[in-house]
Amino acid sequence: MMHSLKDDKRIDPEKLPRHIAIIMDGNGRWAKQHGKARVQGHEAGARSVRAVIEACRELSVPVLSLYAFSTENWRRSAGEVNALFRLLSKYIHKEIGELHKNDIRVRFMGRWEGLPKRAVDDLRYCIELTKDNQSLTVNVAINYGGRAEIVDAARSLIKKGVAPDKLTEELFAQALYQPEFSEVDLLIRTSGEVRVSNFMLWQISYAEMQFPEVLWPDFSKEHLCDAIAEYQSRKRRFGGR
Ligand code: FPP
Repeated sequence: MMHSLKDDKRIDPEKLPRHIAIIMDGNGRWAKQHGKARVQGHEAGARSVRAVIEACRELSVPVLSLYAFSTENWRRSAGEVNALFRLLSKYIHKEIGELHKNDIRVRFMGRWEGLPKRAVDDLRYCIELTKDNQSLTVNVAINYGGRAEIVDAARSLIKKGVAPDKLTEELFAQALYQPEFSEVDLLIRTSGEVRVSNFMLWQISYAEMQFPEVLWPDFSKEHLCDAIAEYQSRKRRFGGR
């Protein structure tokens, strides 16, 4: 057993990704494999959320974005949708004290409209409580869609009256949900599916992507270290040479 993730000799602390984004996929398949209900798969997935948050903090990765609920997830059964929001509130109430104690800042990314009132209240509480924390920022994407985000950014720029010839990529990025974190360095999607599924479309333009075969509830700190080591072994050229 390693004493600390920082002892992992494969990881160069000077070249950490500054922003890791994760599409947490495979909770349903995990539940099926274990003869459990889908909801129990999501509960197991929440434990992996805790593990990757801890790992990012231990390694000093500054930003972690997590895809918790997409604009398309409303198509699931009402039972599963309700269970996911119940789980989110339960998670917040159980973990927020420790997140705050560990100096973690929680942000939200997505459309507020359409969220259950309790989720809105819980999220607002987390965001306000942790707003000055500095060790790690966790961006939770809920009722999030990458195209919706781009449309919302365009709407806000039009409302501000930005002239067409004044619009630049930099200015556009400032209108995204979390303008400070408009670049993703490493995108991970678990469960072996090789798709982006409308996640952070603008921000992943130059991201390194990895699609490990592991289902989200089985994803551990060690898997995150593997992904970072692999990320560091790749050469990023951003279109240059
Ligand atoms: C994908 O698995 C997972 C989700 C749609 C939900 C992710 C939610 C959590 C991990 C729970 C809590 C989140 C937070 C931030 C506390 P799937 O159901 O699509 O799996 P499948 O493709 O195998 O059916």
